[in-house]
Amino acid sequence: MIREVIRPRFAILISGRGSNMQALLAARDQIPADFVLVVSDRGEAPGLHSARALGLPVAVVARARGQSKATHEAALRDVLLEAGVNHLALAGYMRLLSGDFLANFEAVVNIHPSLLPAFPGLHTHARALAAGVPVHGCSLHQVDAGLDSGPLIAQASLTVRQDETVEALAARVLQLEHALYPVA
Ligand code: GRF
Repeated sequence: MIREVIRPRFAILISGRGSNMQALLAARDQIPADFVLVVSDRGEAPGLHSARALGLPVAVVARARGQSKATHEAALRDVLLEAGVNHLALAGYMRLLSGDFLANFEAVVNIHPSLLPAFPGLHTHARALAAGVPVHGCSLHQVDAGLDSGPLIAQASLTVRQDETVEALAARVLQLEHALYPVA
């Protein structure tokens, strides 16, 4: 009974493909937490189909044209708290969240496709190749109100290959993400 009370109740937030979400859900028997909801800010996110197929409740909380960030976040907060969510796992969720919103949850984590603090933001693989870094990878970190700037939890790395394309590197890093996220 006590175990049930202290098990974290996670929602996974996505905006697109949702492959990291799938990796988390595929491992849920080994994770001491309950995944109770998947939320997307985009109704057309392909990951919503995968979540439904896996039997997860889904919700879409889109930011309407002209809607303020605060109003959108209030709607998102209401959906999450209504479902009893107290932890968030971001998996390709493409919005920055405010400190006020984040304060509603015990923990909020995100997977990012670079070895932070290197290459926050978008196009990380192209930027890593352009910079000529020998090692690249992914990071799981706590989320704060900044851009991929919260404290690190875990990282996984690989050696960049000679003449590697952006696509090939992205695919290899994505595999690392899928391995790291459920474990971390
Ligand atoms: C991943 O590379 C993740 O690290 C980044 O966005 C991408 C989302 O991919 N934040 P997916 O939706 O999990 O397939």
